[in-house]
Amino acid sequence: MSNDDYMLVTKDVTKAFGGLVAVRRVSINVRRGSITMLMGPNGAGKTTFVNTCTGVYKPDEGRIYFDGIDITGLPPHKVFKLGFVRTFQIPIPFQSLTVLENVLAAMNSNGEHPLIAPIRRAWIREEEESVKKAFDILNKVGLSAFWDLPAYKLGAAQLKMLEVARALAAGAKLIALDEPVGGVDPAYAHRIFNYIRCLKEDLKMTFLLIEHRIDVALRYVDYVYVMDKGALIAEGTPDEVVRNPKVIEIYIGE
Ligand SMILES: Nc1ncnc2c1ncn2[C@@H]1O[C@H](COP(=O)(O)OP(=O)(O)OP(=O)(O)O)[C@@H](O)[C@H]1O
Ligand SMILES: [Mg+2]
Repeated sequence: MSNDDYMLVTKDVTKAFGGLVAVRRVSINVRRGSITMLMGPNGAGKTTFVNTCTGVYKPDEGRIYFDGIDITGLPPHKVFKLGFVRTFQIPIPFQSLTVLENVLAAMNSNGEHPLIAPIRRAWIREEEESVKKAFDILNKVGLSAFWDLPAYKLGAAQLKMLEVARALAAGAKLIALDEPVGGVDPAYAHRIFNYIRCLKEDLKMTFLLIEHRIDVALRYVDYVYVMDKGALIAEGTPDEVVRNPKVIEIYIGE
């Protein structure tokens, strides 16, 4: 296995909170240009694992390689700068800025201090290149018609796509999506996954997806890892995973 094939490689990543081992020796490989899903019941350790990969927590053990670089223990803003971007479970872009301004702000942010954006409003309009790039991104996530709306006027699903747009604007190579269709109605959930698939195909973007709505998500993903009680219990293609007795047991037992 060469690191060249994989955007993210983790080796035996472990993270405990006091006596609770939330993530136990988790090793995954996220292939470049794939949508790789992490599934598992509530409390399985999915969010903690992604937070440990992106520097929110330092792992107690294990190594994390992103785009061929050892990022173990790097702070979140450095991981972000390298292009590993996490979107939030509850999207929180700047509510009073327009959709376009939110994307422009992300282009100039370093992942830690994006609040300078409103001050830049006046001159940022002049930057035609940036605006063109922002519109390209908005087109790709189906938001270009809403460019001039303040973010607070968007629906839940559109806000999630705005988060993805901001990740793209920030130069993401790997986007971690934590429950992108949580609270979104089924029709729009499929639209969100279709956009994500298009981004994968058009931009060769890589996604690490955490999702509970496996009925909706599984048909869009390339590879799946299943966690339970902090540890990996299965992996494979969506077909393989849904037939895995250990996985069936967990989901029937829920
Ligand atoms: N900051 C923290 N401090 C202490 N315990 C935590 C912390 N974050 C998570 N945990 C615990 O770690 C375990 C894993 O939680 P985590 O949120 O990673 O699970 P999850 O798979 O994302 O669950 P869900 O599907 O509900 O989002 C849980 O038992 C949780 O209570
Ligand atoms: Mg979670």
